[in-house]
Amino acid sequence: MMAQSVVRSVAHFVPSKRVTNEDLSKCMDTSDAWITERTGIKERRFIDTESISTSALGLEAARKAITLAGWEPRDIDLIVAATLSPDYYFPGIGVMIQHQLGCRTIPALDIRAQCSGLVYGLSCIDGYVKSRQAKKILLVCAEVQSPVLDLTTRGREMAVLFGDGAGALCIEAVEGAAFEGRGILDSYLGSDGSGADVLCMKVPGTATPGFLRASDISEARVHPHMDGKVVFKNAVTRLIETATTLLKRNNLQARDIGLLLPHQANLRINEMVREQLGLSPQQVFNNIDRYGNTTAATIPICMSEAMEQGRLQPGTLVMTLAFGAGFTWGGNLMRW
Ligand code: ACO
Repeated sequence: MMAQSVVRSVAHFVPSKRVTNEDLSKCMDTSDAWITERTGIKERRFIDTESISTSALGLEAARKAITLAGWEPRDIDLIVAATLSPDYYFPGIGVMIQHQLGCRTIPALDIRAQCSGLVYGLSCIDGYVKSRQAKKILLVCAEVQSPVLDLTTRGREMAVLFGDGAGALCIEAVEGAAFEGRGILDSYLGSDGSGADVLCMKVPGTATPGFLRASDISEARVHPHMDGKVVFKNAVTRLIETATTLLKRNNLQARDIGLLLPHQANLRINEMVREQLGLSPQQVFNNIDRYGNTTAATIPICMSEAMEQGRLQPGTLVMTLAFGAGFTWGGNLMRW
């Protein structure tokens, strides 16, 4: 019998500092009306002191998830971490979380799939479980993006979208008739690197002569950049492709989805996907109004809040969907 990957617990952590659209309109030419209408975002969280790093946010979420699962850090036999905003250029945050939690010298794997970090992470974890290489796995998705945003009018298209936050899942390999058809049922992933320059932060990096020059800082190249309309169109197409593929190859209909947990990049993207799939508003969980786009952390934060609200019950069919920089995209189908 095949081992199944089930979610034992999920938790999130966001910094306490709320930054409203009104706050942003004091440092750039924007407005609450523009941001709300174009994105659905009302506020986001930013770290309140510069000493808080991505691994520190991830660690808070991880500790909560481990406690909820009733695990000890020494029980964990694999850490998978997803972020586009690591503490250091290298190493990744996986090892920092391993050390700070006090885990054994287990593998710590960092995933660089940006907004698709959670969906890539779950797919990868399911592979470890099915090949019997790990039994208790911690997935941490964390982002501290506020320090690299250009919080001036020049950077407003990007700056109003993003926030800081973290989520973590404890995933366990289980076997036996009672778990047949439970846990991660299927994953679908994709990438198209022709979109790499459409949404990226190029500097600092080895493609830049000198890696990081004083002019890169003075000329504001050390910020993320995006062609929003191109990203928007690709996101809608790929998210629908992912959802329909997952449904079709598992002989399911859209009405079978108990809860869709989509990446939170733009409420309009999620509404278009919902309408084209024929889902009711009750079948979709969104919280972009309160957190903005926390990149890899959006889906685990949604999952954690959905759990707290009692919207994930044993037997609920859950679909995750994500699209992000790369381009990367994908989704997972899970029976809670
Ligand atoms: N406030 C006010 N005006 C703004 C702002 C702002 N924050 N940002 C841009 N504008 C202006 C532009 O300058 C432009 O003005 P112009 O028409 O005078 O030239 C105008 O607003 C642009 O308007 P639209 O093109 O109609 O904006 P659009 O509806 O395309 O919305 C947005 C822009 C919100 C960025 C949208 O394209 C989007 O959400 N794209 C997808 C973002 C996304 O999914 N990112 C992926 C995840 S990120 C990751 O993976 C790391």
